[in-house]
Amino acid sequence: LGSKLVILGHHYQQDDVISFADHTGDSLGLAKDAAKLSAKYIIFCGVHFMAETADMLTKDSQHVILPDLNAGCSMADMANADEIDRAWENIQSATSDKIIPITYINCTAKLKAFVGKNDGAICTSSNAKKMINWALDKGDKLLFFPDQHLGRNTCSELGISLDEMLVYNPNLQSGGVTKDQIAKARVILWYGFCSVHQGFNAEQVCQIKKDSPETTVIVHPECSYEVYKAADMAGSTSFIIDTIKKAKAGSSFAVGTEINLVNRLAKDYPKLNITSLSPYQCLCTTMYRVRPRWLLESLRSIKKNHPINIIKVEESIQKNALKALERMLQIS
Ligand code: 13P
Ligand code: SF4
Repeated sequence: LGSKLVILGHHYQQDDVISFADHTGDSLGLAKDAAKLSAKYIIFCGVHFMAETADMLTKDSQHVILPDLNAGCSMADMANADEIDRAWENIQSATSDKIIPITYINCTAKLKAFVGKNDGAICTSSNAKKMINWALDKGDKLLFFPDQHLGRNTCSELGISLDEMLVYNPNLQSGGVTKDQIAKARVILWYGFCSVHQGFNAEQVCQIKKDSPETTVIVHPECSYEVYKAADMAGSTSFIIDTIKKAKAGSSFAVGTEINLVNRLAKDYPKLNITSLSPYQCLCTTMYRVRPRWLLESLRSIKKNHPINIIKVEESIQKNALKALERMLQIS
């Protein structure tokens, strides 16, 4: 297929898929890569929201393919457009403050369009600090969804105290908060979380520090506040890789992120001691749905001129979602 095809692979993909990727990266890196590609077919080995983002950043004549349409993200599923509309109305009715909505890129295109329409923007784990800073400069309050942990960890990094933040849970009446609490809060965090990163806890960090004080604990910011605070370093998947790449031989790391990435790092850097922070397998089962055989099926379908699993975001949604995406790319 030559230059007609590019395969993109997120760092959490299994080795047998990553070995076929032309570009690997974190969500921000892959979005930027997609925007620069001219290939007619882009096979996105990652999850649904990433393929949607790539589709919006490429031309109509290009086709983005997700090898398994069931490769979703459980965190992205924790916020839908109706819930966000209802919450927005409820929050607006409690305050006259200007609220800026920021969505983590792990969400549907519809939610990206919501923030685009309401003067907000998108962030990823590698630019969350910049984007939240931008939002707080622009408005009085921040509504951050769907990941409460990335929101809380980043805001605390920016000097906002925990009692200025509240959690909005759409499964409870009025989000589980009073109008007075909304009026007083600076940051409103959606209740969502990543089931994979929820698997790490502060006791694991303490145990490692006790057994092996020289080990650097490095985690993804989707981990809970307690883990984030107890760890030595935190950052996106690319940040974790870059930090390990630069480490001196003999250094030890306990890594709090998805197991395929941790195992690959341990294999690629045999002179370092790399283990998972958790003794349990923290596998992103949705990322893992992209099997080599589905990648092969996608390739065969292109070859037969009947590509399958094409991801196309509706034009009516794209306009506002692109506004929010472009805002993010410009600011970060
Ligand atoms: P990164 O942007 O760090 O690659 O994270 C994406 C993700 O889904 C982490 O769970
Ligand atoms: Fe979603 Fe968590 Fe998987 Fe990332 S690791 S894609 S946030 S479920």
